[in-house]
Amino acid sequence: MAMDVHDLYDADTAVLSPRVFVDDQVFDLEMERLFTRCWLFLCPEQQIPNPGDFFVTQMGSDRVIVVRQRDGSIKALLNQCRHRSSELTLESCGNTRTFTCPYHGWTYDLAGNLRRMPHEGEGIVDHIDKSQWGCIEVPRLSSYRGLLFGCWDPEAPTLEEYLGDAAWYLDIWCDRFEGGMELVGGVIKFVGASNWKLGAEQFAWDDLHAESTHPASLMASMPADFDITSFDFAALEGWCFTDENGHGSIINSSDSLDVPLLSLLVGPDAAGYWRDTRPEVAQRLGTARGRVLAGHMTVFPNMSVVGGMNSIRMWQPISPNETEMWFWVFVPADAPEKVKRSWYRGTASSFGAGGVIESDDGAAWSSIQRTLRGAMARRTPLNMQMAMGHMKNGNPDYPGLVSKNRFCEGPARSFYERWVELLTLDDWAQINASAAKRAGAQR
Ligand code: FES
Ligand SMILES: [Fe+2]
Repeated sequence: MAMDVHDLYDADTAVLSPRVFVDDQVFDLEMERLFTRCWLFLCPEQQIPNPGDFFVTQMGSDRVIVVRQRDGSIKALLNQCRHRSSELTLESCGNTRTFTCPYHGWTYDLAGNLRRMPHEGEGIVDHIDKSQWGCIEVPRLSSYRGLLFGCWDPEAPTLEEYLGDAAWYLDIWCDRFEGGMELVGGVIKFVGASNWKLGAEQFAWDDLHAESTHPASLMASMPADFDITSFDFAALEGWCFTDENGHGSIINSSDSLDVPLLSLLVGPDAAGYWRDTRPEVAQRLGTARGRVLAGHMTVFPNMSVVGGMNSIRMWQPISPNETEMWFWVFVPADAPEKVKRSWYRGTASSFGAGGVIESDDGAAWSSIQRTLRGAMARRTPLNMQMAMGHMKNGNPDYPGLVSKNRFCEGPARSFYERWVELLTLDDWAQINASAAKRAGAQR
């Protein structure tokens, strides 16, 4: 069946077709047009500190080896042998001097140059010009605050331009402390039975679902003597951010709830550290960002951050109905060990493979995916109209389009506007021109 992407999301009415979550054609188009042209998060640089360290990451449907070179620089190589496409490494990370293909033994150096083939000098492979058969390299790499991104498209904007105002929001979590953030425990991976966009979109705006989806898990995290009536939830303020690049965030502030609320999730030691370092953060990032208690955000298309809990995640697309979640936890590098442990334990028991909050979200997303096995359900338009037009430029404290309160689907609307642009337009000149027309328009 022929497909017109413009039929899948109508920006004027904010109505979405559920086909975006289940259709093979849509998925293939995303892999071809979106994931090969956007800047994608590859891994924290801390994942590969030493020469020869490598980490196998994913860029859409492609597996890519990120590898530290002898001179300290980083390269990213397609994990594909140029002989018959075997994976060059079957490991997910490690340290090596070369990559030797496990199939017929072609050997590549850390920079991806083909160095050796079996039986050289015996007159069977000596005519092959090795300089022409190196690994395919990701042409553009760039780091933001130690977070490594890659992009296949030489015409794409710089990473800085691509992030735009989202960088200001990222800094709330990545640049809070002079000493920086420290990666703990590598990457946690798990698979969910849902489309990658469900998580990416939820993390861009959705504070609403927490009221219905997460109370049981939060109650379970509370100590037996915890007095829930002491909580004044009305004191929790919040704003959404979005822009024409499809990024989005929800941030919460509260002057009264910070320690009790965070305590539930990361324990009293970490929550106390949060409270005590607030003046330092306010001095470093200004009072607006210094007040922020928690939040989450999505860097378009598939990287998300949970702030307050200090985790970064990728929604790695496997198929329309399957996503691999990759999850990294960070703690303040200068914090005492006790605080770091409390922070890591709290984060990993709330989110990630063993997280109680994570399982709530996973249940909601797989329910959506089950519903959409239905032929009628796939034809039913979905409503994305909450707080339409509430996001505007000009907030004195927060850059980009900002909503009046916590509950606003504007970032989801921006996400799908950007998504349509990427799937339908042929090059970055057209994409930028189209985005420029949408810039500043209320969502
Ligand atoms: S597939 Fe790699 S050497 Fe044959
Ligand atoms: Fe959630």
